Amino acid sequence: MDVVILPDPAAVGSRAAHLIAQRAAADPEMVLGIATGSSPLGTYRELALLRAQGKATLDRLRCFALDEYVGLPDGHPARYAVVVADEVTAPLGLDPANVHVPDGSAADVHRACLDYEQALTAAGGVDLQILGIGTNGHIGFNEPISSLASRTRIKALSAQTRRDNARFFSSDDAVPTHCITQGLGTILDAQEILLMAQGPSKADAVAAAIEGPVTSMCPASVLQFHPRVTVLLDEDAASRLTLTDYYRFVADAEPLLVGENR
Ligand code: F6R
Repeated sequence: MDVVILPDPAAVGSRAAHLIAQRAAADPEMVLGIATGSSPLGTYRELALLRAQGKATLDRLRCFALDEYVGLPDGHPARYAVVVADEVTAPLGLDPANVHVPDGSAADVHRACLDYEQALTAAGGVDLQILGIGTNGHIGFNEPISSLASRTRIKALSAQTRRDNARFFSSDDAVPTHCITQGLGTILDAQEILLMAQGPSKADAVAAAIEGPVTSMCPASVLQFHPRVTVLLDEDAASRLTLTDYYRFVADAEPLLVGENR
């Protein structure tokens, strides 16, 4: 795992966008796994800027979202299909036919989960997966005690996640109770993972995920099993880590480590 501590959220967004642009230059049709929520918004905006400046070619990317709420009506502004269309597909100039979000309004949600796994497999799997982290350590919507081997499925949201996400809804009660999310096993299948976190509210979850034991009580800790994870943090999100001097030393030595399993 590479842990990179950056001065502020803008630096996190910029570093992430440059990494994605670099991977897209090497493989213009790569499969990018996309997260929603606040954490990657700066990254998507920076990527759109790089594209406008002719420094990133993204139009052939294929994208799969991590998750979607169950039961929100078509066009609801908090629906991840809507957020992805507005924040990712349009600004990055992607072909909407290449952008996939789980179908949270499917009549048969279980079938929709299986179909999503199959679509991921048919696309050849995710090359680079973007992740945020919940204050309770979730990735995707894999809440604490999710199976570390889980696949895409319907999941009940925790009270903490519903409180955290109430800012996107008219009231706490308007937050859906269920979602479809890629599983932890699905996420681990990605070739490369880029997790980003900003702000003090993420500090405990980040420390537990990176330096704590692997436990389903902190689902993001399962990333310790993945050989190619980069974690981009601002100073606030990194504030509860204990090995910060080491992470800064390794980040400075980075050119020596390119291509290594971390
Ligand atoms: C969203 C997702 C979630 C968020 C997490 C952090 O697609 O999968 O895991 O990344 O809840 O949310 P923000 O970034 O809003 O703090």
